[in-house]
Amino acid sequence: MGSESKAAPMHALLVSFPGQGHINPLLRLGKRLASKGLFVTFTTPENAGKDLRNANRIVTDKAIPVGDGFLRFEFFEDGWDKDDPRRKNLREYLVQLELVGKQVISQMIHKYNDSREPVSCIINNAFVPWVCDVDSEFGLPSAVLWVQSCAVFSAYYHYFHKLVHFPSDLDPHIDVHLPSLPVLKYDEIPSFLHFDSPYRFIGELILGQFKNFNVPFCVLMDTFVELEKDYINYMSKFCVIRSVGPLFKNPKPADSGTVSDDIRGDLVVKADDCIEWLNSKPSGSVVYVSFGSIVYLPQEQVDEIAYGLLDSQVSFLWVRKPPEKTQSLQSHVLPDGFLEKTKDRGKVVQWSPQEEVLAHPSVSCFVTHCGWNSSVEALTCGVPVLTFPAWGDQVTNAKFLVDVFGVGLRLGNAQDQNNVITRDEMNKCLEQASVGPRALELKRNALKWKAAAEAAVANGGSSSRNLDAFIEDMKKMASCVSVDSKIITRSEEVFDDNVGGPRGWFSRISL
Ligand code: UDX
Repeated sequence: MGSESKAAPMHALLVSFPGQGHINPLLRLGKRLASKGLFVTFTTPENAGKDLRNANRIVTDKAIPVGDGFLRFEFFEDGWDKDDPRRKNLREYLVQLELVGKQVISQMIHKYNDSREPVSCIINNAFVPWVCDVDSEFGLPSAVLWVQSCAVFSAYYHYFHKLVHFPSDLDPHIDVHLPSLPVLKYDEIPSFLHFDSPYRFIGELILGQFKNFNVPFCVLMDTFVELEKDYINYMSKFCVIRSVGPLFKNPKPADSGTVSDDIRGDLVVKADDCIEWLNSKPSGSVVYVSFGSIVYLPQEQVDEIAYGLLDSQVSFLWVRKPPEKTQSLQSHVLPDGFLEKTKDRGKVVQWSPQEEVLAHPSVSCFVTHCGWNSSVEALTCGVPVLTFPAWGDQVTNAKFLVDVFGVGLRLGNAQDQNNVITRDEMNKCLEQASVGPRALELKRNALKWKAAAEAAVANGGSSSRNLDAFIEDMKKMASCVSVDSKIITRSEEVFDDNVGGPRGWFSRISL
């Protein structure tokens, strides 16, 4: 760290919703910011903190050196016991989290402001939009990390502002025409936007962030320009977007002494060791099967996947994450004798080090639920996918992986209880993705995205430049916060013209 930054390091407070798909990208951003000399405090409720400590080598209260800066965890109580049955109800939990979170984050900011580590900027992810209200109270610069694709961001934005027609009870099957995006069929929009979605309230929660989007000075996205150029350009008319992904892909710089790679966001259990097993398999021979941290499949579907893998004779690594204890869901069972019959070519684990698995040369393709993290990880590792989305942005991601990015084959929809994907369908897809011209095309496209992703995060690449620019913006914003926490500058003086944000966006800043 240079002497200047040692004297007054920028302090970024990162506030995360306690879910795997949310913690991973925000923690990755935290590591990137720390590696560039910032002091980063990562905070999320203690119920996730306990799991993080159990699954990873994370020492709380101690700042961990990462590159030129530091990362520290600080967990907070959300007011409910770990086994409180109300945790099963996400809607109820979110109300509680907001109630407690607002106070706790305020106290945290006061505590740091009274110490020698005043907070310079706050960054939150989805599901905790109230963090922006706390930022406003303190007049602190705030940014949001959008943890889904820019295409999905566009869908929510246009829905929220009623700018285009979306399916409704009167017109449930209309196509959706979002500017600069390919036309989306009714079942390709984020499913939470459907009026009859059982998870409609999650859509409303995500839309809640759009109510607050006049507060953050920047929306960071875990994507990269080369992947979503047209959508990023178009959406930059409405807010300052900085694509900084793929966040999980750390450029391997001079700071090889960093412990950054040891800091992982696993919540579930300690990741099983799969790498040694993968090392024993030939290159491009293993199908990786994983459906992220939340999707729960019907037992019938699990049976078909198992028989599909059994019949196809492929080597496979299958993540079967046990359901959350708080969810009261039955653990799945495997067909009798499955493990014995596949012991030479298959491995079943509860949780894998997915980033390393996807980067392993033995992996041929990925049967995925298309969560955005998994999608970006697959693209960045050059791994073709078989898409099996369940809900939310996953269905939109699946469309893009197949039709736009050209790296996937459609396996089916995991949420469609009436249409279980059969073992035969699975086999057919696995074969198409493994041999023949289609397989070659998928792999060629996947490798193209891998190269583009690596270039984006390399020094001078689009995402690297965007991250540097974000840090510069943050420094300028923070230096404009006066001692009494009022911003005393003009927004126009803070941002260059090439940022792409509309004038007047930062209306809360006093002129
Ligand atoms: C959730 C939503 O479901 C998803 O639609 C949204 O885009 C993000 O939030 P999740 O379902 O958990 O996420 O999926 P995904 O986005 O793919 O994130 C899962 C993360 O867990 C990935 O970073 C993946 O690398 C990691 N993972 C998954 C492991 O490390 N090991 C595993 O065995 C499985």
